[in-house]
Amino acid sequence: MALFLALCLAIILSFCQGSAHAAIPPRPLDGLVENGDFEQAPAKSNLKKRAIIGKYSLPKWEINGMVEYVSGGPQPGGFYLAIPRGVHAVRLGNEASISQTLTVKQGSIYALTFGATRTCAQDEVLRVSVPGQSSDLPLQTLYSSNGGDTYALAWKATSKAVKVTFHNPGIQEDPTCGPLLDAIAIKEMLPLKYSKGNLVKNGGFEVGPHVFKNFSTGILLPPKLQDLISPLPGWIIESLKPVKYIDNKHFFVPMGFAAIEMVAGRESAIAQVIRTIPDKFYNLTFTIGDAKNACHGSMMVEAFAARETLKVPYVSQGKGGYKTATLRFQAMSARTRITFYSASYHTKLHDYGHMCGPVLDDVRVFPTH
Ligand SMILES: *[C@@H]1O[C@H](CO)[C@@H](O)[C@H](O)[C@H]1NC(C)=O
Ligand SMILES: *[C@@H]1O[C@H](CO)[C@@H](O)[C@H](O)[C@H]1NC(C)=O
Repeated sequence: MALFLALCLAIILSFCQGSAHAAIPPRPLDGLVENGDFEQAPAKSNLKKRAIIGKYSLPKWEINGMVEYVSGGPQPGGFYLAIPRGVHAVRLGNEASISQTLTVKQGSIYALTFGATRTCAQDEVLRVSVPGQSSDLPLQTLYSSNGGDTYALAWKATSKAVKVTFHNPGIQEDPTCGPLLDAIAIKEMLPLKYSKGNLVKNGGFEVGPHVFKNFSTGILLPPKLQDLISPLPGWIIESLKPVKYIDNKHFFVPMGFAAIEMVAGRESAIAQVIRTIPDKFYNLTFTIGDAKNACHGSMMVEAFAARETLKVPYVSQGKGGYKTATLRFQAMSARTRITFYSASYHTKLHDYGHMCGPVLDDVRVFPTH
């Protein structure tokens, strides 16, 4: 009898443990999607030269149209192809696409981080779509000279299974042109925590898209097109060109894990609308500096809040450094927009193809008397 009871107890306990285990929510997604680095190759029998034959021949992906499986290194035709993150990539031919269905939480916000570059000196566009949202990303401008441009886009999951598609909507005369994708990661964007004594949300840029651990040239955050969700929670990227999200493993960052590098001069601004009390005085403080990426020169960051403007000069040696500035303003209404941009363009000292600029970090607004 005692043995029977003990056995029952053991069964109940294990059942309880089992269900308790099942009740632990999965860790928020933050890493490569399945075969997101394309290192699992199609079977040799499903490759015709570089073309992948068969809709389901690229492991974990569905393909449509002319998709090529590309390996880095010397290429037929005599040029050298660098694939910064890993050895393999896919190239999307005219109207071709790859897609994968991701298991997510309905209603949560996700950001995709992906390495994408054009393969020819032409207008190439990458269309990234999920149910309810489609974004066309122009790949005309190369921001890093080593082909390692990385972008991030965010969206809200409308169901538990979301099909993400990367599509080349173009038709080029040369069928060997088309966007190259070399790594794709996803991150769940958790709701922002309010930080005490600061009216700016995510003012230190600590919450952002997934950053590739092995290799990063920073992540380009494209300007808000239509009514899209920002991959940098709390912030709006305005105007025409992206800003760059940089992390402290690959760059000099004034404070914490991440900061913003303003790589597109006046063509790109970063802004946030904060709650204020009309007629009350506030101080906006922020840090500007350089990312220790050989970006030399006399820089200038302009900050705007209510009626006030502040121009902050910074002379960069390209070795990593920063200074802090304060703009005092009087709120005119219950909402105040704070905006930053770089007054000019910069490139690296010995690499004019590599766009760079001043770094912005640690943005705070607090009331004063
Ligand atoms: C990062 O590097 C490690 C070791 O070289 C490798 O095993 C891993 O696959 C790499 N990860 C990515 C995302 O490239
Ligand atoms: C607010 O900024 C002004 C102007 O820079 C400065 O004089 C003042 O001390 C600051 N106030 C606080 C409370 O930091």
